[in-house]
Amino acid sequence: MQDIDLTVKIGKMTLKNPVIVSSGTFGFGEEFEEFFDLNHLGAIIPKGISLKPMKGNPPPRIFETEGGILNSIGLQNPGYKEFIRNKLPYYKNLKTHLIVNFFGNTEKEYVELARGLDGLPGISGLEMNISCPNIKRCGIVFGTDPRMAYRLARAVRKATTLTLIAKLSPNVTDIALMAKSVEEGGADAVSLVNTFRAMAVNIHTRKPELGNIIGGLSGPSIKPIAVRMVWEVSQAVNIPVIGMGGIMNAKDAIEFILVGASAIQIGTANLTNPRIAMEVIQGIEKYLVQYKINCIQKLIGVFG
Ligand SMILES: Cc1cc2nc3c(=O)[nH]c(=O)nc-3n(C[C@H](O)[C@H](O)[C@H](O)COP(=O)(O)O)c2cc1C
Repeated sequence: MQDIDLTVKIGKMTLKNPVIVSSGTFGFGEEFEEFFDLNHLGAIIPKGISLKPMKGNPPPRIFETEGGILNSIGLQNPGYKEFIRNKLPYYKNLKTHLIVNFFGNTEKEYVELARGLDGLPGISGLEMNISCPNIKRCGIVFGTDPRMAYRLARAVRKATTLTLIAKLSPNVTDIALMAKSVEEGGADAVSLVNTFRAMAVNIHTRKPELGNIIGGLSGPSIKPIAVRMVWEVSQAVNIPVIGMGGIMNAKDAIEFILVGASAIQIGTANLTNPRIAMEVIQGIEKYLVQYKINCIQKLIGVFG
């Protein structure tokens, strides 16, 4: 087992393995430390942060569906200043990469955040969320318009020297075009997918199941669509692709790697099994041993 190389490169970061926990599903990390040693992770991405604190959407904010969940958290977060003051110190002692997920309502806000986070000790990379489906303004215009996405990536690129990952929305007709646009703008990598716009209605109350009516669908039910999108994107760009969407076990993770993901993120699965990320790392290693492959990089995109 020891001589298996699980390291992958994303921009300037070398991850010890390709397993990352996704934004919004792993709190700020601390909440999970009683379940496993977080230093085993390839990287941690905490809840997305904005310039100002946000209260989020009215409840109910989570609804379980067949094979997934709908959420309309509405990007509740303590704001970037509070994050730096009270959350960032926690990561200093961890031996894994911290990637900060952030978003703004305007290009100016994105740029201000990227500049403010640049050079802070302990932060390895930024994940620019241009894809949240369930708040009114956020990055959604940037996430569905290739020209806007290009402009935004270019502006944020100039504001930071950190590894810049653009997180894409699946709520578009041509996700490969969106990926190419942010690559052209200077992103070091893309991550996909965020949640799919969706809703559910309670037939007894005849009311929507979510306070916000519309939310984002995640979990196993979106996996085949996410796999298809990751495959399309990895053929279209030359930067690393980080795949996610319904990964519940190592088999799912390997599927994403085979269609071209250099790394993967685990989201909804953290909510049902807090040790899942650890199990996926071990499962990937076992698979490599089983097929006598000594290096994870030999697996990236070798499908077909
Ligand atoms: C409760 C919840 C909160 C989320 N919050 C964020 C967020 O703040 N920023 C972000 O970029 N994505 C957020 N996401 C999206 C996830 O990071 C991930 O992209 C999506 O859920 C798909 O992966 P999954 O099917 O493995 O959950 C959230 C997802 C859930 C379920």
